[in-house]
Formats: sequence, C-alpha cells, structure tokens
Amino acid sequence: MSDYVLNERDGSLLVLTFNRPDKKNAITHDMYTAFCDGMDEAAADSSVRAVVFLANGDAFTSGNDLKDFAAGIQHSEEAPVFRFLKTISTFEKPIVVGVNGLAVGIGTTLLLHSDLIYASPEAVFTTPFTSLALVPEAASSLLLPRAVGTAKATEMLMLGAALSAEEAVQAGLVARILSVANFHEAVLEKARELASKAPSAIRETKRLLAKNRTEVQDRMMEEGLLFAERLKTPEFMEVATAFFEKRPPDFSKF
Ligand code: COA
Repeated sequence: MSDYVLNERDGSLLVLTFNRPDKKNAITHDMYTAFCDGMDEAAADSSVRAVVFLANGDAFTSGNDLKDFAAGIQHSEEAPVFRFLKTISTFEKPIVVGVNGLAVGIGTTLLLHSDLIYASPEAVFTTPFTSLALVPEAASSLLLPRAVGTAKATEMLMLGAALSAEEAVQAGLVARILSVANFHEAVLEKARELASKAPSAIRETKRLLAKNRTEVQDRMMEEGLLFAERLKTPEFMEVATAFFEKRPPDFSKF
C-alpha cells in the first residue's frame, strides 16, 4: 500500500484518498496500484456498497506523475495506469468522487467513469493533453463530448481550456457544488445515503446508466496505444524536461 493513498472504511464505504499534497497529488504507479488493490478488495467484499475518492491538500490531483510518464509506459493491462482505467471503467459498485480543487488530466477523465460527482467551489477541471504533446485518454475523446457537449469538450481537449466548478455543474460533468466548511464530510454524507439504499437496485441502475461498454473499451484501447507511443516522442520529452526545469516548453526545433 502506497503511503500516498489512504485506504479507510467508513461503515459500508471504502474511502480512497489521494495523500500526496506537496506534489499536488500527482499520481505515481504505486498510487494507481493502491487504488486498484482497494477497488478489487471493495468489489470482493459484499459489505462494501460504494467506493469514495477524496483528496487531501488544496488540489484533487495534478494528474499522472510526469516523472513516471517521462520514464515511459507500455500499453498493457498490467501497466498501473491502464489497470486503473480498466478497473474504474468496469467497476460494478458506485464510485462517489469529491473534487476539492484542481483536477488535471486523469483527475477529470476519471469522472467520466464515476457515478456521484461533487465539487467544492474551488474545483477546476482541465484536460491539457495537447499542451503535453499527448492525446486524450480514458475514452475521454468519446465520453467528454457526451458529458459536456462537443464544443466545450473540443476546447478542453484541444486548447486545455479549464472548467470552473460552476461551469462543470452547468455542463453536466458534476452533480452539484457542496459549498460547506467540511467538504469531505459532505461528500461522505451523500455516499452514506447511497450506501443505505438497496444494493442490487443501485447496481442495476448503474448498469442501466452505463455507456456502451464495448465502445468505451475500444476507444480506450485506441487512445492508449497512441498515448503510450506519444510518451516516447521528443515533443513530450521536451514538455517533461521543461516542467521540471520550471520553464515553458520550446517546440521551435521540431
Ligand atoms: N507530476 C510530478 N510532479 C508534479 C506534478 C505532476 N503531474 N504536478 C505538480 N508536481 C510537483 C511540482 O514539480 C512541484 O514539486 P517541487 O515542489 O518539488 O518543485 C510540486 O508538485 C508543486 O507544484 P507547483 O507546480 O509548484 O504548484 P503550482 O500550484 O504552481 O501548480 C499545477 C500546480 C498542478 C498547475 C502544476 O504543478 C502543473 O501544471 N502540474 C503538471 C500537470 C500535468 O501536466 N499533469 C499531467 C496531466 S496528463
């Protein structure tokens, strides 16, 4: 278990919390593995009725750890990021998410596979894949237009345009803003309400609401192959080097 992911029981909820605030909760391989192990445990335990994702610190997550990305990722189901995407996109119990701050990249795209999504007023949603010389992942090229409309999704996926919490609610990406002092507790209250309902009725409702699984898995595969290839490009290497050198990337040589 990674120290950067807290795995806690709250009655019939399993709560997984990003806990790497000094790095804005950037997600490492070990953190994906900790999430997947937790979710596998939740899937196998009938006393767990829902999984909750929360984050400590001022960010929800700054997305994938760029050091891990720069080291390269094979496109295989065993690669932690792809295992995570498979796990969340096929999970049969409800996933409840509380987005407390900035949600970059997979921090936003994971929402497309979640069920009850709440934001604090400070939440901001961005998918800056092209700014990283990358392409969309998590079937976001298919699901983000469905969630927020094609025009907004295109601006987000091509320009990296950000959505505020209010815009995310208006667009339909987020259920509502919970404007309260104890945001985690407010999200847990919603999750407890969900967990108190008849479990098989909730599971069937989730299944009925689900987007076409084959289409989603096919798109995820197509994006994943391209994404893993793009991580090897000199353009992406320039982005990663520039980020850690704290300067803007220079694409003039390409
Ligand atoms: N991977 C690795 N480290 C990251 C990171 C990431 N995705 N995001 C932030 N960090 C680290 C920074 O390197 C910094 O570390 P340091 O204190 O050792 O220098 C620390 O987290 C704080 O980040 P910083 O950039 O100083 O905070 P900020 O408030 O000025 O900006 C972000 C926050 C999230 C806007 C900015 O860090 C960022 O753009 N991160 C990259 C986001 C990204 O491209 N993710 C990949 C998506 S696919």
